[in-house]
Formats: sequence, structure tokens, C-alpha cells
Amino acid sequence: MNINTQEQFELILSSSIENQEFIRLTLGKYRGGEDGLTKIIVRIVELKSIKLSFTYSYKTKEIVKNYPIEEGLDLIKTLMGSEFMSIRLFSIEQDVQLEYGKNKHPKINFIKPTFTNPVDTTPQQHDRRKKRYIESENNVYLRALGITNSQGHVVRTMEDKFRQINKFVEIIHGLVESSELAEKSHISVVDMGSGKGYLTFAIYDFLNNILGKEASVIGIESRIHLVDFCNSVAQSVNFERLHFNQGNISNYSAEKSDITIALHACDTATDDAIYKGIQSDSSLIILAPCCHKQVRKQIHPNMVLKDLLKSGILLERQSEIVTDGLRALLLELSGYKTKVFEFIAAEHTSKNIMIVGIKSNHSINKEQIIGQIKEIKKLYGINFHYLETLLFPHFFLSPDLADLINAELVSDRAI
Ligand SMILES: C[S@@+](CC[C@H](N)C(=O)[O-])C[C@H]1O[C@@H](n2cnc3c(N)ncnc32)[C@H](O)[C@@H]1O
Repeated sequence: MNINTQEQFELILSSSIENQEFIRLTLGKYRGGEDGLTKIIVRIVELKSIKLSFTYSYKTKEIVKNYPIEEGLDLIKTLMGSEFMSIRLFSIEQDVQLEYGKNKHPKINFIKPTFTNPVDTTPQQHDRRKKRYIESENNVYLRALGITNSQGHVVRTMEDKFRQINKFVEIIHGLVESSELAEKSHISVVDMGSGKGYLTFAIYDFLNNILGKEASVIGIESRIHLVDFCNSVAQSVNFERLHFNQGNISNYSAEKSDITIALHACDTATDDAIYKGIQSDSSLIILAPCCHKQVRKQIHPNMVLKDLLKSGILLERQSEIVTDGLRALLLELSGYKTKVFEFIAAEHTSKNIMIVGIKSNHSINKEQIIGQIKEIKKLYGINFHYLETLLFPHFFLSPDLADLINAELVSDRAI
């Protein structure tokens, strides 16, 4: 068998699915042993996630089976040339015909596309399509960032990212509308650890082009190639008030910013971002922490907890909870109301906890919060949380956190 021809077909098939150009695939000329089976038609369907749907056509009935994409592709590969001798891929770009002769040598032919309407590539939906905050069609920055293809369809490998962007914008919308920012026409945003800028572009687009604010957005990122890339995309799509600066979050000289964001900034970079957010008097501080090494290394639980946390994974999870729980308490101590919730379903990413600080004028019982922090640290044998060292550089090593009660909080200081 000429494996190269079959492999070539397989590659074209995978990439047509990946790039959302796939319409359908038919497997004909059945030579297998199953009674009455004539052909299989493969389509894409959108159930809870995207699946390959196989319709098995028998002389008197049809049976439908759905498979995850990879599993479906593997199944097609095993059927081609062994049970089905004629395979046709219909894609928006072209039709591709693979025919196996008597000697089982495949021949490939490229034919003008039967279907040319991009709508044909849209997966059949079993569930109603959700309204999206950020639409993929005609979206220049999503295209420039590689999230969509030339037809405005989300590239398969970017579906989770696209879902995350939309969820994030939905959260931002709710937070802005229910905060003092709802009334403001000018909003400044800093995104700490902006990476490839997916969420930075999305928040700029949403605040300016959907909410109609005049929003300036700065992305802070340590990796220069990402900074250069994002600045060139921002320029190419005319996002005039979107800029990316190279630098370390901890060195960022915090000017006044209304919203401080740090999504998946590593370990203590999240704490640096919280500190900068408090310093810059942000109305909203929005965090999705990841890697919780600093507190994890310090945990020396008491005897009872030691037994509970003897398994590595439980200790890992516990240190995430303790780290983020203390972050929330320290935010409260700095005059923020906090919300902690799941940002996106765990099946899509494990980095799915979001902490939101909402600046508030409500009176707080500092003594009580400090007491809670102290008890938690004692329980887990923690010497210090990195955020404490930023907020209270002179006090964090104090054995008695009650000393802090009368300490001037960083958020009370002049910026
Ligand atoms: C996991 S990526 C997340 C990117 C983006 N926020 C997102 O959620 O899609 C974290 C990014 O933060 C950057 N980063 C981590 N620590 C940083 C620091 N202390 N200062 C500046 N950038 C940092 C990394 O280079 C990386 O690009």
C-alpha cells in the first residue's frame, strides 16, 4: 500500500477539521463483513463539545454514533482501504477523493469544492448556540492572534481559549456594571503578565467597542517577543489605546488604574499584581492565580493536619486553598470586598479559580481579619505569605500579627 498517499489524505482531513474547513466525509464501496452496511457519512456536531458524528447507512436503517475528534479520526484511518474503498472529503477549499484499486493502492484526486458556503462548515448543533460576548466572525484581532481562521471560525485548538475569553469578558461586564466604574466614561486597565494578549485585546475591544467607554489598556509582560508581537497586532488593528510594555510586574510603577488584572501570572507574580492594584487604587482587582509554590514550601501542618495531608496531591490542593484564601483576606484587610469562584469549568482548565477584589468603603474589622490570618498561618505552620511582605514590609515577621492592627495599610497611604 502506498502509505504516503493515505497519509497525505489523513493530513488534509485533520487540517480541514482543525481549520474549520471540513464539511463532511463519505466512506463508500464497503467491502467489510457487516450485513447490509453500505456507507458511512461523517459530519461534525456540537454537543457539549465538538464531536465527529458517524451515520452508518444500512439497507433498511441508519445508526448514528458520535466520537471525540481524535477517536473519530483514528476510526476513519482504520476503515480506509480495509473496509471502505472510496472515500471523499468535502471541505470548503476542495473535495478530495481517495480510491483504492484492486491491489489496494490508493489514488488521490483533488476536485473543485462541491460546497463553498462557509455556513456549511458550521457544526450541526444539538444544543442552542450560546450568545457570545466576543464574536469570531469579522474579528480582526482574533484572526491576527491565531484564534480564528480566514473564514472567521475558531480554530479547533483555540476553542478552550475562545470560551475562556468570552467567559472572562462576561465576568468583566458584570463587575464593571455593578461597580463605580459603570458611571465612568474613561477607564484605565493594567493586565499584569499579559502573555500573548488574548484577554488584553478582548477587554480593550469589549470596553471600547461594546460598552462604548474610552478605555486605555496596558499589558505588562516580561517576554519581549510577546510584547513586540502584541504591540504590532494592536497597531495593525488600530487599537490606539492598547499598549504592551516589557518589564517585571514587581517593578511596574503603578499609576492610577481602574482595573488591575493578573490571569495565570505565575506564583508570587499574582501577589505583586495584587500589591500594584492596591497601590494604584484600582476599583477592581481580578486574578486567576496559578502555581502556588511560595506557600506550598512553607506548609508545616500540625499533627492532625499532617495525617490528613500526607498525600502529595491533597497537600498541593490545600496549599492552593490556603494561598488564595489568605490573598482574599489580605485584600479584605486592604479595603476590598472579595469574591472567589470558579472561572471556567474544570474540564477546560485546572487553573480555574478567580479571585475578585472590589474596592469598597465599608467599614472593616481589621482586628478580626488579622486574627483570622494569624490563626490560619499557625494551623499550617506558615511563616509568611509573600503578599504580607509587600503590604506590611516592617511587620510580616512579627510573631504577633496583632501588631498590625494599628499599622498603616498600604492602601491608606498616598500613592
Ligand atoms: C501563563 S501566561 C498567561 C498569559 C495571559 N494572562 C493569559 O491568561 O492568557 C503568564 C504570563 O505572565 C508572564 N509573567 C510571569 N511572571 C511575570 C512577571 N513577574 N512580570 C512580568 N510578566 C510575568 C509570563 O511571561 C507569561 O507570559
